[in-house]
Amino acid sequence: MDELLRWRDEFPTLAHTTHLISHSLGAMPRRARTLLNQFADEWTMRSIRSWEEGWWDMPVTVGDRIGRIIGAGAGEVCMHQNVSICQWIVLSCFDWSGKRNRIISDSLNFPSNEYIHRGLRGAELVMVPADVNAIVEAIDERTQLVSVSHVAFRTSALLDLEPIIHRAHEVGALVVADVYQSAGTVPLNVRALNLDFATGGSVKWLCGGPGNGYLYVRRELWPLLSPSAIGWQAHQRPFEFEGGAIDYANSIYKFLNGTPNVPAMYAGMAGYEIVGEIGVDRIRAKSQRQTAKLVAIAEAAGFPCAGPRDPHQRGGVVVLDVPQGKAVTKELLRRDILVDYRPGAGLRIAPHFYSTDEELELVIGQISEITKTLL
Ligand SMILES: Cc1ncc(COP(=O)(O)O)c(C=O)c1O
Repeated sequence: MDELLRWRDEFPTLAHTTHLISHSLGAMPRRARTLLNQFADEWTMRSIRSWEEGWWDMPVTVGDRIGRIIGAGAGEVCMHQNVSICQWIVLSCFDWSGKRNRIISDSLNFPSNEYIHRGLRGAELVMVPADVNAIVEAIDERTQLVSVSHVAFRTSALLDLEPIIHRAHEVGALVVADVYQSAGTVPLNVRALNLDFATGGSVKWLCGGPGNGYLYVRRELWPLLSPSAIGWQAHQRPFEFEGGAIDYANSIYKFLNGTPNVPAMYAGMAGYEIVGEIGVDRIRAKSQRQTAKLVAIAEAAGFPCAGPRDPHQRGGVVVLDVPQGKAVTKELLRRDILVDYRPGAGLRIAPHFYSTDEELELVIGQISEITKTLL
């Protein structure tokens, strides 16, 4: 008996679709609608008073819900609109004009991150294969920041962060990990890892919908960093509206900018609470069982696994090599079976805590049927 299936009722979409796309868009929790209504009621009834009754602090109070999932302490995570902004804030903490100006990035990092690295004046980007030894070897005294993806979006390969963080700290460099594809499906403890920065968002495994990104910054670094991508929420006394240079807040608020995205955070909280209630260890155990089963069914049907085969080396996604993958995906979507396709990778399928084993059989059966008609 799979006890996580009792959560299915909390996700109305599962009654209508085969939802195997939580690496891209997690299913919407019923509670999210209730919370969005709460936001509308507050806006209507409490109006301007809502800011001091909770809205202003939501980037941090909501961040705490994510902090519990990724192993951060209270007040150590703040919310933003997306990962791209969080990555910009991290990069804005450094002076890139000196000798220590290198960013080491892995080849499976999300393209957004690479675009930002390449646009950074003064920085030298060193791209290395997404392999722990290659990354460790590339780090030296010229390295200011190591920017890696914990679980690669393209292949679902899981990167061992520990040796990378250890080597970076040895030479005086810092590490930012994009944990978007791991948080909520792979256990993660940013403090135990001694990770410096983590960025992620809530669209995927956290079932939090669009408009939410989060940033963790290791507490010990707060006094040492001076981010320039900031705004008035980062000020120690924002409501004094002082001019001049910023007097930073002595907290994670230091890494905030302007008016927060309140409705998105209301929508997002539902998913974070549910993932927190279930616990990522249980989600991971189910994911490893189901992804292994999916690989076995797919390979028996003639579709090889294009990502890591060992469940310990893999996040929550199975990537399959399917002939005419793009066209097959289009037809699956038409049949209400939600998966996606990435060029250079393959057809991506992701069961989550609410998925049934029957759905795994169904998707592979449908892929077999569709490929026969297309070929
Ligand atoms: C690993 C990873 N990082 C970043 C992103 C995109 O982040 P955002 O749109 O929040 O900037 C994605 C989304 O697909 C992703 O998979």
